[in-house]
Amino acid sequence: SDCLNVNELGHLTIGGRDTVELAQTFGTPVYVMDEQQIRKSCESYRESINKYYGGQGLVAYASKAFCCKAICKMIDEEGLGLDVVSIGELYTAQSVNFPPEKIFFHGNNKTVQELLAALEYEVGHIVVDNLTELEILNQLAISQNKKANIMFRIKPGIDAHTHDFVRTGQIDSKFGLALETGEAMQAVKAAVGMSHINLKGLHCHIGSQIFDIEPFQHAAQVMLGFMAEIKAQTGLELSELNLGGGFGIKYLPEHDPVEYDRYMMLVSQTVKTTCQEKGLKTPFIIIEPGRSIVGPAGITLYTVGSVKEIPGIRTYVSVDGGMGDNPRYILYQSEYEALIANKAGQPKTRTVTIAGKCCESGDLLGENMPIQEVAPGDILAVLATGAYNYSMSSNYNRISKPAVVMIKDQQARTVVKRETLEDIVRNDLL
Ligand code: LLP
Repeated sequence: SDCLNVNELGHLTIGGRDTVELAQTFGTPVYVMDEQQIRKSCESYRESINKYYGGQGLVAYASKAFCCKAICKMIDEEGLGLDVVSIGELYTAQSVNFPPEKIFFHGNNKTVQELLAALEYEVGHIVVDNLTELEILNQLAISQNKKANIMFRIKPGIDAHTHDFVRTGQIDSKFGLALETGEAMQAVKAAVGMSHINLKGLHCHIGSQIFDIEPFQHAAQVMLGFMAEIKAQTGLELSELNLGGGFGIKYLPEHDPVEYDRYMMLVSQTVKTTCQEKGLKTPFIIIEPGRSIVGPAGITLYTVGSVKEIPGIRTYVSVDGGMGDNPRYILYQSEYEALIANKAGQPKTRTVTIAGKCCESGDLLGENMPIQEVAPGDILAVLATGAYNYSMSSNYNRISKPAVVMIKDQQARTVVKRETLEDIVRNDLL
């Protein structure tokens, strides 16, 4: 990624800072992110949505990829909206006064507490997943004397080819309302008749880490087709369409992600021609990238402990972190690129398995990973860990979550503190 380089000492740098020094200063394991890279992604998304929708579009950052106060503030400064999926993410956004009208509150089973919080903060878009939620929300809105602004989560029936756990747009999904069973139309009609519900539009999300544009175009067609049907059956012309996130990033050198601008151009063409065909006004378009905004901007630094050769089988390189700070290999067999930060200038001559420190054989960060010669005490960098690493971290084995360090103008600041041992027992009672 653009924020990485190798300096005259042969050390890996991020945002112009020597990662070996960062490891010494902040300790390991540590997540390090480059603010400029995050802001550049925001800017290119923002510019292309403006270019193709002429101000009739919004990029909302999916905060599940990486959520903390600093990123919510940065996203607001960049003029983006925010996707939240829990009261915790909403609370984080609220704590930096994120503009509520630009928040999208998702989730297939929001609690009453969450719906009330969304109403109280006047979240601009509560993305309603099902009929039960719609009824509860209307009742709560009546009791609070507020109007709930909503979108419906729709299953467009698109199967984007990615890992089963992160695929969401197909018919057998826990998320959203199905079109073919009539339940989506039923929900629309119910909403139209509800006093305290304002139905603004529709939402879909077809999956994550997608490399093709075609499934997004297909989803747009299906969604606009449904909008036309709603217009025909109810006379209501919905004004907003949220096409979700899911744009793939480069984890491995051979990955070839789509450029945002090309995605935006082709999808906007599909949106415009489909609207013309169906006699619709082009709706306000929202997209919700998470991974592609923060993923490439982050790395994780570890210290190598033991190097264990199993003759003829493999070499285990053990590091001081693992599935606690990055559960993506154990969950999805996700592959990453790694290198020895203090030997970044040297060729990769070894192929190793990188093991974490949890009491669990599956606690690996990767297998068959090419790296440089490696010895105890080396600093290992795993690349493109800015998304779904910190946000999915756990305290398994009572291991403290690492700090998150943000680099800006070559200055490093902690945006999430490393957990202390005191933090580990903070909620324990005898
Ligand atoms: N919008 C909605 C409604 C979503 O459910 C998601 C992701 C996004 C936007 C953002 O998708 P992105 O642009 O980040 O791909 N934990 C998995 C990824 C789960 C994604 C869930 N939803 C992973 O580590 O790969």
